[in-house]
Order: sequence, then C-alpha cells, then structure tokens
Amino acid sequence: MIINRRVQTLDEFTIQQMRDFPHATGELSGLLRDIGLASKRVNVEVNKAGLVDILGDAGSINVQGEEVKKLDIYANNQFVGVLRHGISCAGIGSEELDDILVFDDEISNNSKYVCLFDPLDGSANIDVNVSIGTIFSVFRRITPVGTPVTIEDFLQKGINQVAAGYVIYGSSTILVYATRRGVNGFTLDPSIGEFTLSHPDIKCPPSGKIYSVNHGNFFQYEDNIRKYINVCQQKSVEEGGPYTQRYIGSMVSDVHRNLIKGGIFMYPAIKSKPGGKLRLLYECNPFAFIVEVAGGKATDGKQRILEIQPTAVHERTPFFVGSKLMMEELETYINAAPAEA
Ligand code: AHG
Repeated sequence: MIINRRVQTLDEFTIQQMRDFPHATGELSGLLRDIGLASKRVNVEVNKAGLVDILGDAGSINVQGEEVKKLDIYANNQFVGVLRHGISCAGIGSEELDDILVFDDEISNNSKYVCLFDPLDGSANIDVNVSIGTIFSVFRRITPVGTPVTIEDFLQKGINQVAAGYVIYGSSTILVYATRRGVNGFTLDPSIGEFTLSHPDIKCPPSGKIYSVNHGNFFQYEDNIRKYINVCQQKSVEEGGPYTQRYIGSMVSDVHRNLIKGGIFMYPAIKSKPGGKLRLLYECNPFAFIVEVAGGKATDGKQRILEIQPTAVHERTPFFVGSKLMMEELETYINAAPAEA
C-alpha cells in the first residue's frame, strides 16, 4: 500500500501551526501528541470491549458517587501514564481522581501546562456499544515554571484555556481540538494508526434543527426551560422547524453532532440535582471553549460558562451549548419573567 501523502497527520498539523509562532517551544504540540497517543490506546480497548473481560463494573464508586466501569479506570490510567512520562504536562485533574495529580519531578515542574480530563464520558453506554468519548482541557499554569503546580493552576476560568478537545470512540474515532485560532477534527486512519485531518476549520452553523435534552427529566425542569422545549416541538416550517430531538446520553457525541449540523444541547438543573449534573472543569469548560471558537455559545443559564470562577475541581453546573441563534432564543425564555399565577 502506498501512503497518501496528501493527508496531514495530527503531528504535522500542530507543528505547522507552531511555525507561525517564532517563540513557540513545541510543548503544546507535544501535549496534543501525547493525548492522541493515549486515546489510541483507549480506542483499542473500547473496540474490543465486548471481547475481553473489561466490560462491567469495576466494583468501586468514583468520587462523584457513580459506579465505575473498568474502562473508565483503564482510560484514566492511560492518560495519567502518558502525560506523566511526557515532557509537556506538570499535572492533571481527572473526573476519576479525588484530587489533582501533581507530577512533581524535574521535567514536569518545568512544563508550562496542566490538563483536565474526563477520561471516558458516557460510560453508562459502554455496555451497549454506543459511542463514548474523552474530553480534555489545557491551561497554562499560573504558578512559576520550575515549581510543582498547585490547585490554583487548575481552578482557572474557562476563558483561560489554551486548548480543549475531545475524542469520540464511535463508528470512526475522531479527535477534535480547538485553540483560539480554530477548531479542527482528525479521524483515526486505522491502516496507519494516525489521526489525519478530516474536518478542517469547523464552524458551528448559526442555527439548526436539533435539540438535545433528557426528556425524562422534563417535569423536573424550571418553567422557562419547559416553555423553550415546547417551542422546539412546536416550530413551524416558516420558523425553521420542525426541530428534531436527539439525545444519546454521551455528551461528546451529542455536542459533536450539533457542532457539525447545528443544534442545541441542554442539561439544565433538575429538582434532584439543583446544581446540574455535568462537571464544569471536565465537561462544560472544554465544550464551551470549542463551541465558542467555532462560533456558537455556551451558558449556565445566567452567565457565560467560560467566565465562571471555579471553586472546586469537581464542581457541577447547568449547561446549555450550541448554535448561536438557537442559544439566543433559549436565553429569551430563560430571562423571561415567570408567568403570573
Ligand atoms: P457519565 O459519563 O457519568 O455516564 O455521564 C454522561 C454525561 C453526559 O455525557 C451525558 O450527556 C449525560 O451525562 C447523560 O445524563 P442523563 O442520563 O442524566 O441524561
């Protein structure tokens, strides 16, 4: 087989981007390469999940009080291992770890970035062959290079993200990452084991026809959210409707689809989870960054997600993200005064 040299690999792309910055050290390219490497290992295990004894519960409960699947642990260990032994990351925060992990060795202390991960999002879908994913977020540390990183390096507003991305382990495996310069997607070519540029310069359509929300929670949502969902269902053709409801239960896949096709994803507060379900640092910040760079919007219903000052690594938030015009319409309902009784 002759390799098609017209394809651009993830490494080639990030190095080419770096050349535009004469003072770039290549650390971010190295970090993205390491994340790509770890995700390829996770991908192999996800693909054979039905074949080996890696399916099922690991028998432990994670820090969120949720059941941990074996693949969650495997994925977490891969990202921790690859980044610990790489030269570009000073420490990580992970949805699977109680506390931040400070690598604290000479090479890591001299790295300028920290990473936050949801190593395997949508893990309830593992057993039933539905797409799952990894979400990541990269910050430049605040503390001086040469010292161990501390919690303040991780508790930064999302607006400070240097890069954010996700990997979907689906019908194909795709890695999408954003920097302030743009959002690009790379599909894993299994024949050469490389992520290759397949979705250059992704832009989120300003509007779309898809809304994604857990309808099972409908009667737990606030009135204004329920009104908006009703509007989604009642759109006429003249108003751009009818909308289609799509909800996989893997945010990575739901938001990816809406990013490409146009749409809105919502995980509002519910009575049993008044602070929302999704994690600000591991899930919402990275997607808010990616979607905003692509032209969309993301809020918690009151403010821009990227402007929330985190106070704890595992904090949760209501989350609304998607196409700009759809988000603006949602905001008119969220901001409307409650109807008089
Ligand atoms: P988890 O990784 O714990 O399975 O959570 C998945 C997240 C997110 O990806 C998804 O959109 C949402 O939780 C689904 O939650 P509900 O089942 O409550 O709708």
